[in-house]
Amino acid sequence: MKIKNFSDGVKVEAFYVVKRSEVKKASNGNPYLEIQLSDGIDVVKGRRFDYSDKAIEPNSVVKVLGKYDQKFNSVQIYSLNMAEKGEYPADLFLPKCPKDVGSMWEDLLNILEQYVDDNELKGLLMLVFEKHGDDFKEAPGALAHHHAYLGGLLEHTIAVADSASKLAITYKSDLSLTVAGAILHDLGKIWEYKWDGLQFEMSDQGALLGHISLGISVISIYAKSTIKDEEKRNKLLHIIGSHHGLVEWGAIKEPMIPEAVIVAAADNLDANMFKIYAAQEDAQPGEVTKWDRTMKRHIWVKEKTKDDYAG
Ligand SMILES: [Fe+2]
Ligand SMILES: [Fe+2]
Repeated sequence: MKIKNFSDGVKVEAFYVVKRSEVKKASNGNPYLEIQLSDGIDVVKGRRFDYSDKAIEPNSVVKVLGKYDQKFNSVQIYSLNMAEKGEYPADLFLPKCPKDVGSMWEDLLNILEQYVDDNELKGLLMLVFEKHGDDFKEAPGALAHHHAYLGGLLEHTIAVADSASKLAITYKSDLSLTVAGAILHDLGKIWEYKWDGLQFEMSDQGALLGHISLGISVISIYAKSTIKDEEKRNKLLHIIGSHHGLVEWGAIKEPMIPEAVIVAAADNLDANMFKIYAAQEDAQPGEVTKWDRTMKRHIWVKEKTKDDYAG
């Protein structure tokens, strides 16, 4: 059971990741274990009374049997056992995109089919998908702040490619190049992040090089064999290199061609829209605004949910 669905008195019987734990002394002098349990998204405190063992290592997985007490916002634990790998699904603690990956993948292929007419760019995209499609479907869109779940890269890429296609038509930029750039803009995140453990992590090459450089280095290899036109190749790589918009936001170069301006704008728009909707969904009763550190502003959340904005 997910921690966010806990209600008073509910029976808790599930696997959790230990965030931290400490053996303390109760008022009667008996030792007890105080523990922070995570389901990959939320964390809840737990207590195991009359505990004579030592504290549990952080990032261990435990099987907990207990009862949730709303008054103390804590789980009273009756039994606590260390879990072995293989006892629980490998991706149990990684948050997942609420949308179906299979239908998102079809949406992305439809965008490619509909807007990328240029045969060289289409060939490049098909080659990239053939080699890295499985990772592309699985990768998170970020470690935090937006699309930080399995399938998040795919969800974010579809939104960026979809709005970039519309902007390309409005501003009469090269539609094939704009949409191909949008589809590939964050490809490097496949190598920037690791997601085979209990949480999403930055890989060593991600920390040292970042997804823009990683994307450029991989795409330039595939582009050599699929795109003969050197200018087209350079423009595509420029879209990837400039998609963060400003050098201070991590762009290698700031957008110098219409297609790059569009992809950078669509990228920024999607990340901001995600944060706005997430803040509204997260809003607690009575909350009027929520401070967003990355957007450096308050978001208006007063009794609004995503549905209020639909249609
Ligand atoms: Fe990016
Ligand atoms: Fe992006």
